[in-house]
Amino acid sequence: MLGFTTAQLFGLLPLVAGTILMNGQEKVTSYPNTKFDLDATSFTSYAANASEISYQGRWDSKHVSWWSAPGLKFGFTGSTVAISFGNWTSDGVLVGYRIGGMDWQFTNVTASGTHLFVSKDTAGVSETWPYNPLTFELRVTNWAYGVQIDQVHVAKGEKLVKVSPASRRLEVIGDSLASGMYTSYEGLSSWGYALGAGLGDTEYSITAYPGICAADQDCWGNPRGQMHQWFYTSDTSYRASVMYGGKYCSCNSNPC
Ligand SMILES: *[C@@H]1O[C@H](CO)[C@@H](O)[C@H](O)[C@H]1NC(C)=O
Ligand SMILES: *[C@@H]1O[C@H](CO)[C@@H](O)[C@H](O)[C@H]1NC(C)=O
Ligand SMILES: *[C@@H]1O[C@H](CO)[C@@H](O)[C@H](O)[C@H]1NC(C)=O
Repeated sequence: MLGFTTAQLFGLLPLVAGTILMNGQEKVTSYPNTKFDLDATSFTSYAANASEISYQGRWDSKHVSWWSAPGLKFGFTGSTVAISFGNWTSDGVLVGYRIGGMDWQFTNVTASGTHLFVSKDTAGVSETWPYNPLTFELRVTNWAYGVQIDQVHVAKGEKLVKVSPASRRLEVIGDSLASGMYTSYEGLSSWGYALGAGLGDTEYSITAYPGICAADQDCWGNPRGQMHQWFYTSDTSYRASVMYGGKYCSCNSNPC
């Protein structure tokens, strides 16, 4: 008998091979660069608190996202969508985005940067069925990272349109499995996401973090369990401790 478990062998493989294989294909780890310099004169801009923007999952009053796969959604006219991110964005974090419920596209976004997500070259941007206006959605892929929304931009003279919420709401509360740890697109390939998205006509949020316990105790680096942390906007990440203070524990203005 070799002294290795299967998991250890898999863990060693990337050191040897250098590429990650997924279903026999090389996994993509470089994504299109969407960063661009905004010329404010050609855009109509909305603040992060615009009532046309619907936020899913946990976002705080500074429009900073928390937990797994938080997102936003709005309708837009024209064929351009850009977003300026605030300085609390995790620099380089991978986000998924899409229009009209089509396939997710992925790009890394930057702290204090503006990114162009939709332009005349975007596949499907001229479709007007079944959505008119088209919807734009964005979700953060990794539970430990987040974005801060500063502004949303559409082409000059165009506008954002509020989309009516789905008839059903689902919140998945969990740990690594629900948050998508070790899956290809993390939160966007977790079972929590698959359940929420698969149900259709459902607003879903995933209040999950790897290693967190249901009982309020220190588990795998999470100082508090869901019995406590679920009542707070932010999760148990290092990011939360930097922003709100405390030992990996975020209590907005309250002490832990
Ligand atoms: C958004 O925030 C600004 C400045 O804080 C405030 O003046 C405005 O009324 C807010 N808008 C909405 C729709 O809440
Ligand atoms: C973001 O900017 C605000 C206001 O300038 C500042 O107080 C805060 O420390 C900055 N945060 C980071 C992570 O740089
Ligand atoms: C983009 O995100 C992926 C997934 O987190 C990461 O592996 C990659 O290094 C990031 N790329 C950049 C340029 O930040």
